[in-house]
Amino acid sequence: MLNVVILAAGLGKRMQSDLPKVLHTLAGKPMLAHVLDSARQLDPARIVVVIGHGAERVREAFQGEPGLEFVVQQPQHGTGHAVQQAVPALLEGDGADDATLVLYGDVPLVQPDTLRNLLVARGPGMAVLTETLTDPTGYGRIVRGNDGQVQRIVEHKDASDAERAIDEVNTGILCAPTAKLKQWLARIDNNNAQGEYYLTDVVALSVADSVPVGAAQPAAGWETLGVNSRVQQAELERRWQHEQARRQLEAGVTLADPARFDVRGTLTCGRDVFIDVGCVFEGNVTLADGVRIGPHCVLRDVTLGRGTHVEAFSHLHDARVDRDARIGPYARLRPGADLGAETHVGNFVEIKKTRLGDGSKANHLAYLGDAQIGARVNIGAGTITCNYDGVNKSVTVIEDDVFVGSDTQLVAPVTVGRGATLGAGTTLTRDAPADKLTVSRAKQVTIEGWRRPVKKS
Ligand code: UD1
Ligand code: MG
Repeated sequence: MLNVVILAAGLGKRMQSDLPKVLHTLAGKPMLAHVLDSARQLDPARIVVVIGHGAERVREAFQGEPGLEFVVQQPQHGTGHAVQQAVPALLEGDGADDATLVLYGDVPLVQPDTLRNLLVARGPGMAVLTETLTDPTGYGRIVRGNDGQVQRIVEHKDASDAERAIDEVNTGILCAPTAKLKQWLARIDNNNAQGEYYLTDVVALSVADSVPVGAAQPAAGWETLGVNSRVQQAELERRWQHEQARRQLEAGVTLADPARFDVRGTLTCGRDVFIDVGCVFEGNVTLADGVRIGPHCVLRDVTLGRGTHVEAFSHLHDARVDRDARIGPYARLRPGADLGAETHVGNFVEIKKTRLGDGSKANHLAYLGDAQIGARVNIGAGTITCNYDGVNKSVTVIEDDVFVGSDTQLVAPVTVGRGATLGAGTTLTRDAPADKLTVSRAKQVTIEGWRRPVKKS
């Protein structure tokens, strides 16, 4: 039975923020949520989050998430003290595979595969996740015996010069048999340079109890980087975005520049997708085969069909687009935009809660809201569905093969029959019959003999 304990009580002073550190985001998601997602991949029986500074805000942010327990550590007397607070919440089974894995809430990117390797390295005993650094300053050092086995961990501040020369460091992540861990935690003291209860002291206690201590290393260095400041947050964000870009490239996506690519959610791409520079993908975005995204587009919770192109500076949110559509530049699709195959939506066109049928076009300067638009409809420049009377929203229905002339206002609720034509400048307040020209327009007159005024002397 696996428990995961996530340490998240620390202050995060260097963030210079009122927001608790673990609620600061990476790729659009709180750091603690990243850790929780990785932890859940291991199918733990329980996840215990140790909170302290900003406890209520952290609890609130994760309210109602299943299998999650919060314990408060107040005040904070060190990592060992933090795990001690979690002890009553730890679950135990038959003993054989009972283990507790300790993670840090401010080390957001540790990957499930690395954690699985750590659990394997444990065998029947405990294991620590270690790393070899060119500059180990500040970290706890891994002291190994002549046999190469881990003996203990010494904190930088407590280390001798010889120990400080060790370049294998403690990442902070470890796992141990739950029952033993409880015993060891009860035995640690705070007789050290920082006057804290060190979780790392359980390593020596394990060795003294003849419980073997294994070690594993993360697959990538960025997995164990912690965030203590905005600078480190920004650096880790770039590293993670670079990693996400690398994964897309490996999967066959072309990125005009992997350094100018941001995914804050999940991006799923088909074959031969092209993405230009400066795009942001949020929520769940799915791009089918052959989709092309122009520069500086924002796509949030969007599905695009195969062969669809989105041109520069378009903003798509909660929208679905079928195959071979042409969107933008400067198009805006808002929630409920549902575009058929081979549709065209051009510059400064805003579409909300509207179905645009196959082959229909709105190429310039239009607002289409709360509308049902059929196939092969042409929406002229400057067309507006007047869907809102200041109190209620009403629906505009435009049937197949309609031609809407430029600068038309459709005052909803209103229906335009199949094959109808609306003359330019029409303000439509009643339904327009099928197959006919409807136009509302003052008759054009020319005044004979009219003269321009001249300046009075
Ligand atoms: C710890 C390790 C050190 C390791 C380093 C890796 C100990 C004694 N030392 O040192 O060996 O190299 O991490 O970054 O464990 N926390 C609490 N309550 C507390 C203290 C800390 O929840 O009372 C949390 C912090 O919020 C943080 C994590 O534990 O998420 C680590 O705390 P931090 O103070 O950064 O530990 P270090 O002294 O850096
Ligand atoms: Mg630290």
